[in-house]
Amino acid sequence: MELALFDETELIGRLRSLIGDDAVISVAEDMGGFVEDFRGRYRGAALCVVQPSSTEQVAGVVRLCAAARVPLLAQGGNTSLCGGSVPATQGVPPVIVNLARMRRIRGIDAANGSMEVEAGCVLKTVQDAAADVALLYPVSLGAEGSCQIGGTLSTNAGGTGVLRYGNTRENVLGLEVVMADGTIWNGLRGLRKDNTGLDLKHLFIGAEGALGIITAATLKLHPLPTHHALAWFAPTDPQAALTILGMFQANCGSRLSAFELMNARQLQLVVEHVMDRRAPLEGAHDWHVLVELGDTQGASDMESVLQATLEEAAEAGLLEDAIIASSDRQRAALWEVRHSVTEANKKAGIGLTTDCAVPLSAVPAFIEQATQAVLALNAQIGIVIVGHMGDGNIHLVPMYTFDAWRALPDQAAAGAAVRRAVNDAAHALGGTFSAEHGVGQTGLPEMAHYKSAAELSIMRAVKSALDPANLMNPGRLFPAAPL
Ligand code: LAC
Ligand code: ZN
Repeated sequence: MELALFDETELIGRLRSLIGDDAVISVAEDMGGFVEDFRGRYRGAALCVVQPSSTEQVAGVVRLCAAARVPLLAQGGNTSLCGGSVPATQGVPPVIVNLARMRRIRGIDAANGSMEVEAGCVLKTVQDAAADVALLYPVSLGAEGSCQIGGTLSTNAGGTGVLRYGNTRENVLGLEVVMADGTIWNGLRGLRKDNTGLDLKHLFIGAEGALGIITAATLKLHPLPTHHALAWFAPTDPQAALTILGMFQANCGSRLSAFELMNARQLQLVVEHVMDRRAPLEGAHDWHVLVELGDTQGASDMESVLQATLEEAAEAGLLEDAIIASSDRQRAALWEVRHSVTEANKKAGIGLTTDCAVPLSAVPAFIEQATQAVLALNAQIGIVIVGHMGDGNIHLVPMYTFDAWRALPDQAAAGAAVRRAVNDAAHALGGTFSAEHGVGQTGLPEMAHYKSAAELSIMRAVKSALDPANLMNPGRLFPAAPL
């Protein structure tokens, strides 16, 4: 290990001279919003928070931290559901590199269907800028009003558009990254084809800032669907929902753009805890699906396909009730119900959000087996289910009331056991414990548990090649090798 060239006090002074006093926060009381996640589950300490406003400034910050041997944690909108955006309680307090000031849209090439943006750009801003030129950036999720592009790239975020457009990884053409030694890699290419060796951008997408800091990206844009048809229906059970999904795929092809599932308890929490949210259907139903079709033309045709497919499902005895949104306002209101789940669950109690994906054919078995496994540990836990059925990605959220959680003698152990039960059910069906949220802090023990030794050793080899001093988000993503 090389020696530090200067100490932490000097580091803070040098950071101030490099990027300006107002861009360095080093008073503990002012760091609250940066060291704690939005649900208050994880809180660590930081040496300071820096807010650089250019790629060169990020590179300068990285070089100074490397010289002082102080670790760095890159941070976006701090909307992680697994503690990925804040420091751990243990370990050396890092310099948090918060990218909020790097929020420029550098350019849009409409004919190429691409947009170059800085990492701190809020996802919604990117979506709106694309829509202004009749294009679509298809990554969409509940936190889109505050999460930042850099965070969505570093976690390979999913959301509700994956069924049609793929996850974040599939919507990136190029990246700009500051490496651990301060080198700037400019890989901002707007190419749909480029077979010149390793596709390096994929190393950094999903790497949670542990291999370098993403400072900008060239995003892939699509034609903007301006016509939609949306329905909310109650399938008799998850198996019926799966069969209906198959009908929609067969009847609608690529116009099928969302197929989102939730159980009755999830809907009830949204209605109870979020203002102005209403249950879409009359009466009580155990399961709910939001299905949407989108196209650049032909609304009436889409509505008839939607209607015909729902009728086909009803005739087969697969659904209990359905409504079709009759206006853009109603369509938006139904999407708001779907996108309110995280806010609702945060208010309702302590929800242990899980993020498993299994093959589509195994979704009904996963829901059944994971539910039974959790209830076998504790029959009092509420089972809240919401997910992207069209991607095989189901969030089963074991939900404790605040009182029940407080009463637990060992919250960490109880939470870990419940998560492991859910993740084991997915694993047994050929699934994964992290589909779209990333690994963060919650998933670290699961990395060590489920990933093969071969996979982990390849990952560690990449890490030590790109970050030999282990200063980029140390302790994350790459569980330490067994002694
Ligand atoms: C969602 C978050 C939990 O699907 O990923 O709403
Ligand atoms: Zn999700």
